[in-house]
Amino acid sequence: MHTNPVTSNFVADITGVDIKSLTDEEFDEIYQTWLTFGVVRIRDQQLNEDELQAFSARFGPLEKIPLGRLPESERAKIKNLYVTQLSNIIVDGKPIGGLGNAEANWHSDMTYVDNPPPASVLLSIEIPDEGGDTYFADQIAALEAMPEELISRVETLTIKHDAAHTSIGKLRPGFEPFDDPRHAPGAEHSIVRTHPETGKPALYLGRREWAYIPEIALDASESLLDEIWSYAALPENVWQQKWQPFDLIIWDNRRVLHRRDDFDQNSRRLMKRCQVLSK
Ligand code: OGA
Ligand code: MN
Repeated sequence: MHTNPVTSNFVADITGVDIKSLTDEEFDEIYQTWLTFGVVRIRDQQLNEDELQAFSARFGPLEKIPLGRLPESERAKIKNLYVTQLSNIIVDGKPIGGLGNAEANWHSDMTYVDNPPPASVLLSIEIPDEGGDTYFADQIAALEAMPEELISRVETLTIKHDAAHTSIGKLRPGFEPFDDPRHAPGAEHSIVRTHPETGKPALYLGRREWAYIPEIALDASESLLDEIWSYAALPENVWQQKWQPFDLIIWDNRRVLHRRDDFDQNSRRLMKRCQVLSK
């Protein structure tokens, strides 16, 4: 097994490993590399849902897929309760996965809960020729890029992270619409957050839309958030993933932001993912 840095400090490829027959030592090495870098890519992993779920569960407890109003008879047909699909593919008039072909702005996953998730695990199955690239931005580097004076203004402040909207800006089922970020429901976290496992400070922004800094007035919050966000994804701290089928990427939501390009609805994109929850 080899670790090959893709960017100098926050993305690594791991080669020479088969996730289907992973030893504990190999998993420990993947885990350490993931903590060190924040984004790990392992190519050519043709995993089925059982295998993806088993691998992801080594990182921690997994988030159950939202079953919503699905009738009991339909629920029984779902084999892997911890694997979701992201896709624009429509079968029998129904999308087979989330997010469609839409662009997703910079975010990290589920930051709107009190104990936000560490890892997200994403496996590509079908990939369009063009579009649908995913980008990652290192939030340790983002913090380091900020002027000292700005850091000292924000390091005692928090952000309230909106729980009501998805990463493509749609209202989630069960939430009432609102038009004032102060009314957004969601958890509060320090803007500069110490990583619980590495001890390293990083910016922790969640997403820009509907964010609010509750210690200050709305106008001040809007302009301060814009100022902080101007450092969040500087080109030198961003890496672009051009997917091939069966790329497996594990990222650390406490360390990086991610976003994804839109793509042509006439092409097909299918991803499978597991959401690791905090222990
Ligand atoms: C995610 C996500 C990006 C993509 O899985 O959390 O934002 O490339 N997906 O589809
Ligand atoms: Mn996401």
